[in-house]
Amino acid sequence: MTDTTQTYKPVIHIMATSAEVDEMAANLVAKQVVEKPHSYLTLPTGQTPQGMYKLLVSKHINEKLDFSAVTIFNLDEYWPIKKFHEASYASYMKSNLIDHINIQKANWHIPNGEASDPAIEASHYETQLQGVSIDLAILGIGPGKTCHIGFNERGSTVDSESRYIKLDEETKKTNSVFFPNASDIPEGAITQGVADILRAKKIVLIAKGEGKAWGLHRSIYGPISADAPASFLRYHPHLTVIIDKAAARML
Ligand code: F6R
Repeated sequence: MTDTTQTYKPVIHIMATSAEVDEMAANLVAKQVVEKPHSYLTLPTGQTPQGMYKLLVSKHINEKLDFSAVTIFNLDEYWPIKKFHEASYASYMKSNLIDHINIQKANWHIPNGEASDPAIEASHYETQLQGVSIDLAILGIGPGKTCHIGFNERGSTVDSESRYIKLDEETKKTNSVFFPNASDIPEGAITQGVADILRAKKIVLIAKGEGKAWGLHRSIYGPISADAPASFLRYHPHLTVIIDKAAARML
């Protein structure tokens, strides 16, 4: 249960460039893995972390950063979607990270977009998450007014668990560009819940670009409520926010 009686101020790093966001985020993940080789990580997909993943792959190749004992739980996956669909988050993770590092494949977890029943798949994912303790969760924040974390769209509660959820229209509009036909984007997704995310020992939120400025301001300074799910992160005592200047424009 999240303690909602106490709120905390995040540590905010405003970086001059988007490359510096990548570098700081990758360094934090690498530090975690070096200090605790058996780390459990929650990781996001999307445009924001692509540079971070490039750096992590390069650290693995050039600096022997060792992922052999690391376990990864992804935040979310569209449903329904084929694993090998070019816009699936499973494909994203394989091409951006998993296929290029020495993680044991059994230690990489992502909701199954091909599951016949998303509610059963979500409850299976929840059981797996309840059985572990996530050391570090890296998150992005949804576009525009969504303020989503994972795919916890507006209306998600602080005690929400892994579940099937309908995507917000604003999310669908933004993310449909990654599908060959915009109308192919699934109506929903399976996501870790807000409560799952808040159980991580440390949380790092990364964001880039002006499209995130309103949502960051709303989530960091506005009321803590379900119409801005990222605002729930202020219940976490170890939240670090790493953003570029454009995303910080309203802070
Ligand atoms: C994706 C996820 C989402 C994204 C968010 C930002 O796994 O959990 O919450 O982090 O939609 O996406 P980008 O980085 O594409 O702006």
